[in-house]
Amino acid sequence: MPQTIDFVIKGRRVYTPDGFMPLAVGAQDEKIVTITGLENAPRGREEYDAGDNPVLPGIIDPHTHMREPGYTRREDWTNGTRAAAAGGVTCVLEQPNSVPPVNCAENFRLKREIASAKAVVDFGLLGGAGEGTIHQMAEQAAEGAVAFKTYLWSYPDRSDEFDGIHTIDDGVLYQIFEQAADLGLPSCVHAENYRLVRTFSNRMLQEGRRAPIDHQKGRPVVAEVEAAWRAMIIARETGVQLNLLHISSGSAATAVKAWRGMGGQGVTVETCPTYLTLTEERLNEIGPYAKINPPLRSAEEQEILWDRIADGTIDTIGTDHAPHEFEAKEKGWRDIFAAPAGAPGVETSLRVMLTHVNAGRLSLERLVELMSVNVARVYGLYPRKGAIAVGSDADFVVVDLERRERIDPKRLHVKDPRVARIFEGFEAVGAPILTVVRGKPVMRDGEVIGEPGYGGFISRQN
Ligand code: DOR
Ligand code: ZN
Repeated sequence: MPQTIDFVIKGRRVYTPDGFMPLAVGAQDEKIVTITGLENAPRGREEYDAGDNPVLPGIIDPHTHMREPGYTRREDWTNGTRAAAAGGVTCVLEQPNSVPPVNCAENFRLKREIASAKAVVDFGLLGGAGEGTIHQMAEQAAEGAVAFKTYLWSYPDRSDEFDGIHTIDDGVLYQIFEQAADLGLPSCVHAENYRLVRTFSNRMLQEGRRAPIDHQKGRPVVAEVEAAWRAMIIARETGVQLNLLHISSGSAATAVKAWRGMGGQGVTVETCPTYLTLTEERLNEIGPYAKINPPLRSAEEQEILWDRIADGTIDTIGTDHAPHEFEAKEKGWRDIFAAPAGAPGVETSLRVMLTHVNAGRLSLERLVELMSVNVARVYGLYPRKGAIAVGSDADFVVVDLERRERIDPKRLHVKDPRVARIFEGFEAVGAPILTVVRGKPVMRDGEVIGEPGYGGFISRQN
């Protein structure tokens, strides 16, 4: 090891699988090369002393929609990954519904090239699988997809984004799972039953109900619970690793617990800070800016979701960072069904979850599992990502657990702060103060200092 290495971070509370410890961590050529007691800390060309502030492995957000190529007025790779860096996120995993949708090798490469030139933090890409594209799954795996994504829901009005990445046909779903299992990649699903959503939404429309709250009434919990069970049952036949994304209801998370209790394996679950923090009431407060799919739920469902955090059922937390244009969202005040679903989240997720840690809802260790370690494991990135260990990428986030900040959209990096209202006014306690990607600080004291193009493409380790 050279006398002086690239980067050294020290602190009295550095995360390890065995608890927080006083340690010095040294990085050379982007990797962690040494971990010592504080008294033996190596010298670095750049050094950071976190003092009593916890040092965590970088947060990995497994669910972003950076909108590029396609809709860069909503979001783009530089802007969205600057927001990530500001939020303590060192790696994002991107969903396939851009334009063109990622559902073949060519579209996969296009997105990879654009993101490589523009990202500030590391990124991986999900491949898309759906109606008519099963034969294009192998080539996406070969390009480095971390997983596949299939919408069991369809967006007839957004077919430019969702072509070839959705199905409402269980036979097609079976074949997608079979193929993913063959390729050794997890299959991720958006679990909402299309026919049920159709029936309930049409009922709203027929009754002339178009208020914000009617969005949630048009997409009841049963649509998610049914789709989750169905996906688990079909997945088991194929042996695929199934990953249920953005589970919004405690009832659906409980279905997973029940399934595992029956010996069902091979399923992992993601939820989002939105579902753990906000309820359907938010639709009454901020209208279309709280419209997301699946929708915000009742306080009762949220309590059950927290029980599933506490008992270990839920594996990961992603944000579903999905910005839209202001003009499109505004249409939802008069008719909630006319506005697109989606809200930004990549920059606020860690602050929101740290607030729950401060409130005693979960431990800081459990937060690290949900937002980093388990994400890396589910997507085959571990231990390159999600670990503070020799040989891992030198990705860290330092958090100040006492920092109080009211979330103000104007201070976020999202493309258009007017659409970033979902957590507006939220009293956050705890914030990231340093984000390091492969030994290089990309955010310090709230200021993003990472360069576009520094972020690199990440694929599975196996
Ligand atoms: O709210 C959502 N927005 N849910 C989705 O499934 C898609 C996303 C988007 O891309 O806008
Ligand atoms: Zn999404």
